[in-house]
This record gives sequence, structure tokens and C-alpha cells, in this order.
Amino acid sequence: MKLPLILNGDDVTLDGDPRENLFSVLQREAGLFAEKTACHKGSCGRCHVSLDSREVTSCLVPLFQARQREVVTPEGFRQTDEYRQFRLILDEEGLVECAECTDVQIFHLFSYLELFPQAGPEDCRIAIGEIPCRCGSRPVLERGAARWLARKEAFRAIRH
Ligand code: FES
Repeated sequence: MKLPLILNGDDVTLDGDPRENLFSVLQREAGLFAEKTACHKGSCGRCHVSLDSREVTSCLVPLFQARQREVVTPEGFRQTDEYRQFRLILDEEGLVECAECTDVQIFHLFSYLELFPQAGPEDCRIAIGEIPCRCGSRPVLERGAARWLARKEAFRAIRH
């Protein structure tokens, strides 16, 4: 069955069983998440996407739920100005690129900070811990989150 949706800003049609999980379809039909090892069971966190601006675990979402909705993957997020600004801060803090988790760590953390702009350091630490990581980037992400939130706060103060 062919399902229309918006994927990373483009109108696309993905072919698959409506009950098949969105992650598998994105891998097969759109070539996304290609080089990642992933559990397909909801525990590794490497399949996160946003569905109409809400972060979801795409291996647990049946394809039919994405019909005519907007899906953004970490690959799509990488093309945005917000990504570039956030990434700059993380790079300044010493982020090391990890093929397995960096993209999804950044995607997940940014999504979290958008949803919870008042998050404190402990909240951010818990959110960062939701994505398994073996590359030791968590302290960098924690510092980056604090700087990003402080910057947003300062920006808001200027506008008001
Ligand atoms: S593929 Fe591991 S949580 Fe979805």
C-alpha cells in the first residue's frame, strides 16, 4: 500500500504494509538510518523521529499512523539552521562524532529542550540518558544543553 506523507520537508509516498513499523519503511524505502545498528524493539533509541513535531520511537509506530503527517528524521534535522547553531555549541564543548549515537543524541536532546525549555541540569541529564551511548558524550551534551537554554533565555529577554 502506498502512503503519502511529508518526509524531511518533501512530499513523498512510501510503500509498505500499513502495520509495518515506520522505522523499517524509512530504512527500506527512503534509505534513512542506513548505517545504524538498531534493536527494532523500542529500547536502543536509534530510530527517533518527530511526527507532527512530537518525538516518537519510530520502530513502535505503524506506518499507517504517519499517513499525511510530517515526519522529520535526524538526517532532516541536520539540514536546519537550528541544528547548525546547536551543533556549534556542542562542538565548542568538545563533542566527538560517533557513528552510532551522535545524530540521534542531538535530535533527541534538541526535541527535549524544545518541549521543556525550563528543564534544569538534572532533567537534561535524565533526558540524555534515555539514549544509550558508549562514546562518552553525555557530559558534553549536558554542558551544551545548559548553554543552549541560557542562550534561548537571553534571546527571549531581549525580545520582551
Ligand atoms: S530501533 Fe531501537 S528503539 Fe527503535
